[in-house]
Amino acid sequence: MVREWDPRTASSGELQSLLDTLNAAVAADLPDDPLWQDSSLREYLSETMPGERRISWIAEEKPDADGSPTRIVGYVNVLLLGEIGVVELLVHPAVRRRGLGRRLLGIAARRVYHEGFTALGVEVIGGTPAVAFYDANGFNREYVEIRSVLRLSAVDWLALGEMARGVAAGYRIEFHPGGPTDPQMIEAYARAKAELRDVEDGDLDLRPSSYDPERLRESLACLHRRGMKPYIVLAIHEQTGEVAGLTEVVVPAQHPTRADQYDTIVAQGHRSYGIDRAIKARMLFELRAAEPKLAEVQTWNAQANESMLKVNAELGFEPDRDWWEFGADVADIAHRLEAEH
Ligand SMILES: CC(C)(COP(=O)(O)OP(=O)(O)OC[C@H]1O[C@@H](n2cnc3c(N)ncnc32)[C@H](O)[C@@H]1OP(=O)(O)O)[C@@H](O)C(=O)NCCC(=O)NCCS
Repeated sequence: MVREWDPRTASSGELQSLLDTLNAAVAADLPDDPLWQDSSLREYLSETMPGERRISWIAEEKPDADGSPTRIVGYVNVLLLGEIGVVELLVHPAVRRRGLGRRLLGIAARRVYHEGFTALGVEVIGGTPAVAFYDANGFNREYVEIRSVLRLSAVDWLALGEMARGVAAGYRIEFHPGGPTDPQMIEAYARAKAELRDVEDGDLDLRPSSYDPERLRESLACLHRRGMKPYIVLAIHEQTGEVAGLTEVVVPAQHPTRADQYDTIVAQGHRSYGIDRAIKARMLFELRAAEPKLAEVQTWNAQANESMLKVNAELGFEPDRDWWEFGADVADIAHRLEAEH
């Protein structure tokens, strides 16, 4: 049975069952990734940025005759942002290849279509069954990045110390656990992000960055609400006070042993001064001190971004797997999956 589901009012039994299914999928598809914990899971599934909406459905197994609680074996949500509905879809490994994934995708696509959105997007992890699933269901491969993982236990901290100090004169490196709070700093930070905004790299913006100060504040607040603790390192150009470079890491309460490194940006006029290497190295020192449970950091880069891949390799990141963005016209998918039922 499939029904619309609201994580805000869901029972703790339902959340636990969804977590079990998620972890069964992680174990099957991504055996090297950490399992998830029941920590701020409700908030993770329900909180959004202002103006965004997430709609979710679950598929439950029929209750057993012995009265044991129903199990959630499938889950789908769409995050409606701008013109696009971003899909997250999950089917328990024990019940795959029986059409449940296609059915859940059809329900979500139909809703996105009726809500008036034009496109669907989804992040698809290379080397998992999801690739063949979205290929078979009419999605196009739009963009690919490489995920790399760094193990803190393998870091050469002495060499890293050199890297952290290896920034040209005239720059100051600052650490902002939780994100910057000073309004002037937030503005400078937003300006640095905005500068790279118009670089057309072909991705679908499934995880849009925030480019104005208000939006940036909201985005940091949203991360906190979802149990994802942001850490930010900034390189400040001392003469102008401008943010010359920034790197952002989030430590999610749901898998606190592995952090996500999001945007790393060095503004155009400040390249080749060692900033990229220095801010990322400094970040690793700060994380080691602030997050004793942390064992790994993962990050995503375009293949074309050779200089950043090179710096990542120097720091100790190892390429792990492809990470795709698939896209589709929502009307196509809604009609295609409707026709099949
Ligand atoms: C992708 C996923 C949702 C598919 O669910 P499913 O219920 O098995 O999908 P369906 O049975 O509806 O499959 C539909 C079609 O997709 C294709 N497909 C799905 N899985 C496939 C596989 N492993 N190999 C090849 N084709 C596949 C087939 O064409 C299939 O039709 P068929 O069975 O008639 O040949 C499921 O594998 C899943 O949950 N993956 C994990 C997703 C994820 O987010 N992982 C990251 C966090 S762990």
